[in-house]
Amino acid sequence: MALVAVGNSAVADSVLAALRSGVRDFIDLDNADGDAVNIISRALASGNDNGGHASQTRGKVVAVLGARAGVGASTVAVNLSLRAQRAYGATARVMLLDFGIPIADASLYLNQKKEFDLLQAINSLSRIDETFIASAFASHPTGFSLLPMPTQPDRLRQISYDDAVALIGALRRFFPTLVADLGGFADLDFVAAMVRQADEVLLISDPSVGSIVSARSLLQGLAERGVIVGKIRLLLNKYDEALALNAGDVGKRLGVAALSELPHRHVAILQALNQGKALVEASPDDLFSQTIDSVVRQFDWLPAEASVKPKGLVGGLRNLIRR
Ligand SMILES: Nc1ncnc2c1ncn2[C@@H]1O[C@H](COP(=O)(O)OP(=O)(O)OP(=O)(O)O)[C@@H](O)[C@H]1O
Ligand SMILES: [Mg+2]
Repeated sequence: MALVAVGNSAVADSVLAALRSGVRDFIDLDNADGDAVNIISRALASGNDNGGHASQTRGKVVAVLGARAGVGASTVAVNLSLRAQRAYGATARVMLLDFGIPIADASLYLNQKKEFDLLQAINSLSRIDETFIASAFASHPTGFSLLPMPTQPDRLRQISYDDAVALIGALRRFFPTLVADLGGFADLDFVAAMVRQADEVLLISDPSVGSIVSARSLLQGLAERGVIVGKIRLLLNKYDEALALNAGDVGKRLGVAALSELPHRHVAILQALNQGKALVEASPDDLFSQTIDSVVRQFDWLPAEASVKPKGLVGGLRNLIRR
């Protein structure tokens, strides 16, 4: 059922903000003119709030945070999205929201040239349906959709927290998994707003002292903004055994649960990139790719087959037991 709120302009903004997820239109009684009839006709014509296309699913949001610039948040977000998409096959699509700064790294890593961006999506909120997504949004050959930030600074500044939250709310009806790359985003209020929306929060750090110190101040900043830091899990990227500092050690120092270590793979990542691929595509057997797979397996809302099956004897046994 389409929802229409009725009130006067003094309360319109707050009512809309509070009910954004459920209300499609607002009739301003102080200034209704012919609007009321139009709005009610439109609501009745649409029949339901999803424009007749979206499913009732509420997509899960995976937020990827970077301790500081260059730790690998975009690399992780891109590789995770590819693996999550593989889990769905053709049954559904993953959405990669590239809030990362520098802008549009995910598009670069995926050799994606389509320019429809987050601000355009925000400005088209009421038009978003399957047809619109298929025609306007960039999509990777494997099937997942991608929204980069606008590259022009003046357009970038037009994106507010409320807009981004509303966009995620709208996209959740069409994408069962949304991966948000927040690496490099300096505005902590924005990051906190995104983390509050998230079902999974991955903090990417490398093992350097600088990154660990930055990770601590990021966590502190989020805690000060009321974020439940306990929901954040650490992925220690660029890990090298020789350093004798693993994800568990760093997680303990930061006071967050450790998920895993992603090995240092500078050359392999760049070689894959030069072929226009992410590492999970170019080298699925690499330990980095296998670790991404194990992270994706933890997203228990993905279809079971998605969970990319582990290889070898243990994997074979596990798959046999699953059947
Ligand atoms: N596991 C890894 N091993 C080696 N190099 C890596 C690894 N992960 C990422 N890198 C490299 O680190 C650099 C930064 O990666 P990426 O752009 O993913 O980081 P980021 O946190 O998103 O950075 P930024 O803040 O610049 O957006 C890239 O050159 C990437 O290839
Ligand atoms: Mg990045």
